[in-house]
Amino acid sequence: MSEAFLSIQNVAMHFGGLRALDDVSFDVERGSVLGLIGPNGSGKTTLMNIVSGVYKPTHGSVYFNGKRIADVPTYAVCRLGIARTFQVVKPFANLSVRENVAVGAMYGRNGSKRNAAASFERAQELLEIVGLARVADRHASDLTIPDRKRLEVAKALALDPEVLLLDEVMAGLNATEVDEALELLRTVNARGVTLIVVEHLMKAIVSISTAIVVLAEGQKIAEGAPAEVLASPRVIEAYLGTRYAERQRQRQAQS
Ligand SMILES: Nc1ncnc2c1ncn2[C@@H]1O[C@H](COP(=O)(O)OP(=O)(O)O)[C@@H](O)[C@H]1O
Ligand SMILES: [Mg+2]
Repeated sequence: MSEAFLSIQNVAMHFGGLRALDDVSFDVERGSVLGLIGPNGSGKTTLMNIVSGVYKPTHGSVYFNGKRIADVPTYAVCRLGIARTFQVVKPFANLSVRENVAVGAMYGRNGSKRNAAASFERAQELLEIVGLARVADRHASDLTIPDRKRLEVAKALALDPEVLLLDEVMAGLNATEVDEALELLRTVNARGVTLIVVEHLMKAIVSISTAIVVLAEGQKIAEGAPAEVLASPRVIEAYLGTRYAERQRQRQAQS
């Protein structure tokens, strides 16, 4: 058994004949920010679904704090301290923003210690952290896209996670909104929450990640420190493309 905080070991996921993941292994350090990148269809969301207990892997295991969690149902994974956002955002549309977050606070890891009033209090704190206090009484269905992404993060944080899985929370945001989202994730990480971030925006990944894992066609093709991984010929070929590599070289030559 592994001593790592979070350890993905030889995970495979087959959908019929399709190998969405094929023998993927890596460890995530406590307190780190792991950037998980790769082309569309490379298996990133599938891996998030396995770590959060939505899918049971065809092969392999996931260990969290020394416990095997690959056979544990989603609600129990959440109780153990792993929460996630969804690539397709789905709040409870008829609840207010505050109520959406309070539901998480009531049913998450520390929910049994909280009554309704304490859950609403916690929700208010989180809305302030993510910048949604101004729309706390609106229906979730009335929020703009960036605010829906913030709500996703607040809902996940309400579960009091040790690990937060973020699946493309910056997709569709403009440059300023991306900067705000990065700031938010840094705040969350500084509070001790380990992050696994799936994102296509390389600038965002580079600026926030302490380590990067690259998937291509269901396999891990690179892992390590951001600068190293993004300079790897294999990663450039499979994902980043030569134009990205050229721009990087020019930027480094200028600085
Ligand atoms: N529930 C599913 N049933 C069948 N195929 C799936 C399912 N989920 C994902 N896939 C397939 O698995 C592969 C990886 O998908 P996904 O993990 O969503 O990739 P990514 O998030 O990296 O874009 C894709 O070919 C996708 O079509
Ligand atoms: Mg995906």
